[in-house]
Amino acid sequence: MPRPPASFATARLTARMPRADDGPAIFAAFGSDPEVTRYLPWRAYDRVDPLNLFLRERIADWEKGTGNFAWLLCLRGTDTPIGSIGLGLEPGGKVILGYVLAKKFWGHGFTTEALRYLVDWALAQPTIYRAWAFCDVENTASARVMEKAGLVREGLLRRWHIAPTIGPEPRDCLAYAKVK
Ligand SMILES: CC(C)(COP(=O)(O)OP(=O)(O)OC[C@H]1O[C@@H](n2cnc3c(N)ncnc32)[C@H](O)[C@@H]1OP(=O)(O)O)[C@@H](O)C(=O)NCCC(=O)NCCS
Repeated sequence: MPRPPASFATARLTARMPRADDGPAIFAAFGSDPEVTRYLPWRAYDRVDPLNLFLRERIADWEKGTGNFAWLLCLRGTDTPIGSIGLGLEPGGKVILGYVLAKKFWGHGFTTEALRYLVDWALAQPTIYRAWAFCDVENTASARVMEKAGLVREGLLRRWHIAPTIGPEPRDCLAYAKVK
């Protein structure tokens, strides 16, 4: 099974494995912001404790090789998380990607930069043929990120995903992919 790098750098970012003590910084930067979590599968945290638990699970993913890999994104030269990006290995030569960034840093191309790196990494692996992601139909910024990273819109996934910040019903999503 291919294993992505534990850390990587792009022009302006470094991505590293989460650490158990990252909770407070993530909480402050983006984890407690309901505007950030609007279209995400989790609600904004109102306490750091459950976020610490989540981090321990992501660290365990790295240690156990579950196929789920999460990185924290930091501005190059710093160690403070401003966002996160994740890659999941799926059966049949596919990877799924997801990302989040602190609001203060939106609109500078940071997420596109990180996504491009992981899409390139994935499709450079001999056994991976498809890198894909999806976003809520209303999440125009995320759709744009995928397009800028070279993914192509494939279709509408109806009633695909629950965004608890918006409501309990599954919502329509757009699927994007890059293949080789
Ligand atoms: C989606 C998200 C990760 C984008 O990150 P980002 O680093 O700002 O993305 P980029 O700067 O690379 O590109 C954003 C693009 O969307 C456009 N955009 C559209 N609506 C926007 C909005 N409300 N805010 C910021 N950018 C927006 C920007 O103009 C830009 O396109 P352009 O380069 O053609 O001008 C970020 O907005 C975010 O964290 N949102 C909340 C979490 C989330 O929804 N994650 C994705 C789940 S599928």
